Amino acid sequence: MKFQRLFTKKVKHTPNSKQKNEDEHVVELKGKFIEKSVKPELNISLLDLALKNNIDWQFACTNGNCARCRCFVQYGSELLSDVNSMEKSRLDIQEIKDGYRLGCQAMIIKNGAIKARNKTYF
Ligand code: FES
Repeated sequence: MKFQRLFTKKVKHTPNSKQKNEDEHVVELKGKFIEKSVKPELNISLLDLALKNNIDWQFACTNGNCARCRCFVQYGSELLSDVNSMEKSRLDIQEIKDGYRLGCQAMIIKNGAIKARNKTYF
């Protein structure tokens, strides 16, 4: 009977604090077809992090002109660099207010959870 209890005892799977902490520091990126949760890196753009992780994030220029890397940041925008002059000249004010950024210009400056998806105009 005691033997049976050993193998039927329910084990609770609660995340330990380390696992929970790691989950809070994940960047979820969605390209055209590929979506991944990746480890954040500081001082790297969302575009570069996506490309480094083989996510099919669209881009053409990487300097803020084409807007192919345009993305919607669902959360974690406070962990990104401020909207820069290239983004202000390429995106509408309303787009910026709505949470759109240029993936090649938005740099990760703090660790934490970020979720962004590439949303090109066409
Ligand atoms: S890749 Fe052209 S604006 Fe970002």
